[in-house]
Amino acid sequence: MATYDYGMIGLGTMGRNLVYNMSDNGFSVAGYDPDAKQRDTLVKNAPHDNVSAFDMQKDFVAALKAPRTILLLVPAGKVVDQVIGELKPLLSKDDLIIDCGNSHYIDTDRRIEELANTGIQFMGVGVSGGEEGARFGPSIMPGGNPDVYHRVDKMFAAIAAKADGEPCVKYLGNKSAGHYVKMVHNGIEYGLMQLIAESYNVLKTIGGLSNAEMHEVYSKWNEGKLKSFLIEITADIFTVKDSDAGTQKDLVDVVMDTAHQKGTGIWTSKSAMELQIPIPVIDTAVTSRYYSAMRSARLAIAKSYEQGEVKPADNKQELIDKVEDALYFAMIITYTQGLELLAEASKKQGYGLNIEDIARIWRGGCIIRSAFLENIARAYESKDITTLLSDKATVALLKDNSPGIRDVICHAVNAGIPVPALSASISYFDSYRNGWLPANLIQAQRDYFGAHTYERLDKEGTFHSIWHSKK
Ligand code: 6PG
Repeated sequence: MATYDYGMIGLGTMGRNLVYNMSDNGFSVAGYDPDAKQRDTLVKNAPHDNVSAFDMQKDFVAALKAPRTILLLVPAGKVVDQVIGELKPLLSKDDLIIDCGNSHYIDTDRRIEELANTGIQFMGVGVSGGEEGARFGPSIMPGGNPDVYHRVDKMFAAIAAKADGEPCVKYLGNKSAGHYVKMVHNGIEYGLMQLIAESYNVLKTIGGLSNAEMHEVYSKWNEGKLKSFLIEITADIFTVKDSDAGTQKDLVDVVMDTAHQKGTGIWTSKSAMELQIPIPVIDTAVTSRYYSAMRSARLAIAKSYEQGEVKPADNKQELIDKVEDALYFAMIITYTQGLELLAEASKKQGYGLNIEDIARIWRGGCIIRSAFLENIARAYESKDITTLLSDKATVALLKDNSPGIRDVICHAVNAGIPVPALSASISYFDSYRNGWLPANLIQAQRDYFGAHTYERLDKEGTFHSIWHSKK
């Protein structure tokens, strides 16, 4: 009997939690996963009796109301293609597959095209918020055919997080728009996480703050201009004790300093390089994960470059306040870079994105949610600005907070403490706001060694000169 509103393939934590969220909101969901344990867990802990699990894909498909809507929450990459391949013979024209994983946008475009002649619809939808978000309200970034979106818009609005009473979901644009926006969300996430890690290093190494003091500082920051999910969880992290050790050690101190990644940050940087949009904070955050992964090389090299004692800050509170300004400044710059990339991708890839909408749906549920997104939404409200840097309110904020970041970077560099993402954010700002850059010299060098020609400030055209001095 075809009685279920939706199907979910992939009943791991994210898939299961999303099913429960849909179930809470009155939608009946059939689940499928080849792993019996996952199927049992889904049914055993289901909050209502509108959820069930099937062990055969054909029974699962037959249990769905037509035209069918099937959500996928399976690992990005080959598995998605495999699941589509298995589903294809079982589905009919107008059935809709929604990939809710972190798929690469290029794969999403390919899948839409590959399914086009079957009449099966395919949408790429970004879902952010981790386990908690999936269960109680994620931020949802849908993209794809606008003519089929009406089949899921009410369900998505019901299960999404709410910010100021508005659901954190909005149809974003054509083709792979949803997965592209989610990818950039993750790029921003990488940037913000790296910046917070650098602020922690400065406070720890120069400020000499204990973990208990870190907790206080980040908690306080979370009540002010830095209010955000990532600052909130950072404050929490400093309170957790290591249960394994049987000692009173703080857990954060026994975590290895090697950060892993699944690839969305790299994809963001690659796409930005191709579109020629500078996003140096995000690039640096990706690169910093590589530095962190070179742990044994770092330990070996460290012996040759031992540094002396770091001179502690003269005034601890002053340092804390400056780091707060530095982080705020760099956070604004990180969003700026992500949004400029989105605007350019929208133009080149034909997504039709509305940046204000994106800022609004990121205000709740997702990993990069922050109070500042409200400012961004306002900056783009019914305006077609090309960069957040031109928004009047943002100009004032960046001016206010730039002395802090400059001081913190100087202090850190003098003490030999790496602050690559903070430095990337001020360099981006200084490069952007300078009407003149020394690229005239690069043009002269190119023309010198390769006759690549150059343009002049005082007349139109391209020119070539003989640059080498006669000897
Ligand atoms: C989210 C997260 C989620 C995932 C990251 C982790 O929005 O809910 O971004 O998608 O936790 O992709 O990425 P890395 O493993 O690459 O750090």
